[in-house]
Amino acid sequence: MNRLKKNIYAFSLMSIALLSVQCKSDKKKDMEVTPQNKTVNMVTISKEAYGLTLDSIVVDKYLMKNEKGMEISVITYGGIITSWTAPDRNNNYKDIVLGYDTLEQYEKETPYFGALIGRYGNRIAKGKFSLDGTEYTLETNDGPNHLHGGVKGFDKVVWNASETKTDTTASLVLTYLSKDMEEGYPGNLETKVTYTLTNDNELQVVYEATTDKKTVVNLTQHTYFNLTGDFSKTILDHEITINADKLVPVDATLIPTGALTDVVNTPFDFREAKTIGKEINTKNEQLERGLGYDHCWVLNNQNEGVRLVSSAYEKESGRQLDVYSDEIGIQLYTGNFLDGTLPNKQGGKYAHRTGFCLETQHYPDSPNQENFPTTVLNPGEKYISKTSFKFSAK
Ligand code: GLA
Repeated sequence: MNRLKKNIYAFSLMSIALLSVQCKSDKKKDMEVTPQNKTVNMVTISKEAYGLTLDSIVVDKYLMKNEKGMEISVITYGGIITSWTAPDRNNNYKDIVLGYDTLEQYEKETPYFGALIGRYGNRIAKGKFSLDGTEYTLETNDGPNHLHGGVKGFDKVVWNASETKTDTTASLVLTYLSKDMEEGYPGNLETKVTYTLTNDNELQVVYEATTDKKTVVNLTQHTYFNLTGDFSKTILDHEITINADKLVPVDATLIPTGALTDVVNTPFDFREAKTIGKEINTKNEQLERGLGYDHCWVLNNQNEGVRLVSSAYEKESGRQLDVYSDEIGIQLYTGNFLDGTLPNKQGGKYAHRTGFCLETQHYPDSPNQENFPTTVLNPGEKYISKTSFKFSAK
């Protein structure tokens, strides 16, 4: 009797095991037959508490993960991307963005590590511009000029956050209402930035804004990349491509001269891949003014909408970053102001040129430059700008 019971028990166990193998393989078949299987979400997003700002506002951290293994952390303070892993040619994922471990450090001092930038990415000369005969005065936080939205730009405010998902993506939607005259800018600006992680190791960033008064707007993202994943290394060996025939040259205070000059036969020619370090120290007035590359390029094919605008490749790891955008300009900044004082996430300090930024945007100082495409936003219009960062390895 006991023996019979045992046999029945063993038999049922076997059947369950067989049945579940059968189910699994059916499921697999299902997924293969209908890859758009509605029940499977391969990209996830989760939230945890991150900290309290000095003025006691709660800051959360969102973690997006895809099926391949990419992980991106974003905090609601400044919409800052605090970490972002990308694969090397052996499929090893490593954090490849500069940043800090704590909110305290971000609040204390940061050169815009990973942050959203607004209302105006880059400089506005003397912090002044006029709209319909009214002059507006902004903070001057970069020598005589206004930089990256002012003293308390979008990089230093706490954004509202919500999550959305599709079958193959996860998004973090950040919104912020910048009040009329905040940092000196006119109009209540309703701002929305959507970060979407896909299963193709791509982060899409969509910037949107509307206003109730004529204003100017130029939003961007200020992530510093170091594709080695080793923050003690410089980025001088990274090969960069920028699909631009022209540059926006600047004066001694990094305000555009108004001209757009050919890159041909200059250190600013990145139409073919070239290392950042190759010509960064050559004698050139523009490089001297920027203390290296800290310039906006006039991107080609401006009427094509989202297209490949720039790439970065690091040959030891094989990591490659491709930047797609519908913007007309891109600022390459090579971490020239990093000076070994700020603590890095790996126990050391961020030394000179250990990160580079590729900030898609309209040209600097457009509100004061008649010949530059406009950055004015009117009530009833919608500002929309799209950029995506796609990683691969070779
Ligand atoms: C931008 C500017 C640089 C510098 C960095 C942050 O890229 O163009 O001049 O301010 O931000 O240090």
